[in-house]
Amino acid sequence: LIKTLLYEGKAKKVYAIEGHENNGKVFIEFKNSLTAFNALKKGEFEGKGEINRDIATFIFKFLESKKVKTHWVKDIGSNSMVTHQLQIIPLEVVVRNTLAGSTAKKFGRNEGSELVRPLVEFYYKNDALEDPLVTEDQADILGFCDLETMSYLKTQALKINALLVGLFQKAKLHLVDFKVEFGKNSNNEVLLADEISPDCCRLWDLETKEKMDKDRFRRDLGHVKEVYVEVLNRLKKLKEEINE
Ligand code: TMP
Ligand code: ASP
Repeated sequence: LIKTLLYEGKAKKVYAIEGHENNGKVFIEFKNSLTAFNALKKGEFEGKGEINRDIATFIFKFLESKKVKTHWVKDIGSNSMVTHQLQIIPLEVVVRNTLAGSTAKKFGRNEGSELVRPLVEFYYKNDALEDPLVTEDQADILGFCDLETMSYLKTQALKINALLVGLFQKAKLHLVDFKVEFGKNSNNEVLLADEISPDCCRLWDLETKEKMDKDRFRRDLGHVKEVYVEVLNRLKKLKEEINE
């Protein structure tokens, strides 16, 4: 596979790949690095790229089986995948089931407060600006994403949430919140992009309430790799769910 680096992000590298069968596709390599607070805090651990690739693939396959369109095409090697090439919409779509992190802090609520229904928030994807919260009118008028597409993103994000809450529950994990990104293909279809992994979700053990996600790194709680491995192992035990 002949590939040329197109873009290097904080946790992934994206390459163009040659060959007509690869038209409209890219190669994504998951790195071992880990960042927090818009890359102010940096770390890494051995095997992270492989673990997150496997978790992301598991989730993409599960969502595809539930008719959610994703950019995933196939896995390659131990830490990479081929995906459809998309024009990424510069919004981070966050869904919260339980209040934690930035929104709990912002409104002075306790982490772990239940919400009457899932909360969807849009953030403008821009590290230099620290990913500011953006209203739908701001996003539309400033040209990040039109209103009709945002309405679709919200519907999709809530559908993904309902599916993943159920999936993780079977793995004895509570999906507190997560962030997803979407992109448009050349036919202007909107597909789920990026990845879903413990980097971009909050997952609490259903019984012990232990944090099983990147908060262990953000908050220096230790055992970062161990919990990522544990999340993957619990999902692997649910293999049959994918083709349910
Ligand atoms: P927050 O509480 O810090 O706003 O994060 C909400 C969720 O979104 C949490 O699961 C972590 C995830 N997230 C990302 O994946 N990338 C980001 O840049 C941010 C700010 C949050
Ligand atoms: N993903 C962002 C970063 O890498 C923020 C975070 O997850 O805390 O800096």
